[in-house]
Amino acid sequence: MAIVDIARMGNPILAQHAAPVEDPTDPVVAALVADMLETMISANGVGLAAPQISRGVQLVIFTVPSERSEDGQGLPLTVLINPEIHPLSDAMDEAYEGCLSVPGLTGRVPRWCHIGYRGLGLDGKLIEREVSGFHARVVQHECDHLLGRLYLSRMPDLSSLAFTEELRRLIAASGPTGDEAAVEAAAE
Ligand code: NI
Repeated sequence: MAIVDIARMGNPILAQHAAPVEDPTDPVVAALVADMLETMISANGVGLAAPQISRGVQLVIFTVPSERSEDGQGLPLTVLINPEIHPLSDAMDEAYEGCLSVPGLTGRVPRWCHIGYRGLGLDGKLIEREVSGFHARVVQHECDHLLGRLYLSRMPDLSSLAFTEELRRLIAASGPTGDEAAVEAAAE
């Protein structure tokens, strides 16, 4: 395992479509996941996509912290290979997101509230879930990286784009508000 440099906005790898993984059970894939996990943890992230460490393959990893999950249980690390997403309703909501490839910034992004997703695990077995809330948001954010999209390109209105540090200062000055979420989500 190794901590790897995270590609930042402007690096062409982040604007490319990732290629499917041919064999999820190949030990090379497990080694890639190990590097991604160590890199994500060291950067305090909750998700990471392979292109973010300059590997253009369809692989994402993510967790849902217990305090951000609807059942309070959280979601242990999920490795999702060759993922597909589809919305389960027309409902969308907006919340702050951040990205390890766009350090220091956060902005409000609309996402589907309820999605179904499927993909393969490292064992090659199908993972299929229907999720909502933060879980749905993280999956949409990470899978966007496989399409060469950063959250900024999903923002219909850039006026909420902010430095996380400035929002944190506001929160400190005015007490806890809904913007607390901005600070937590900024490490995605
Ligand atoms: Ni990201």
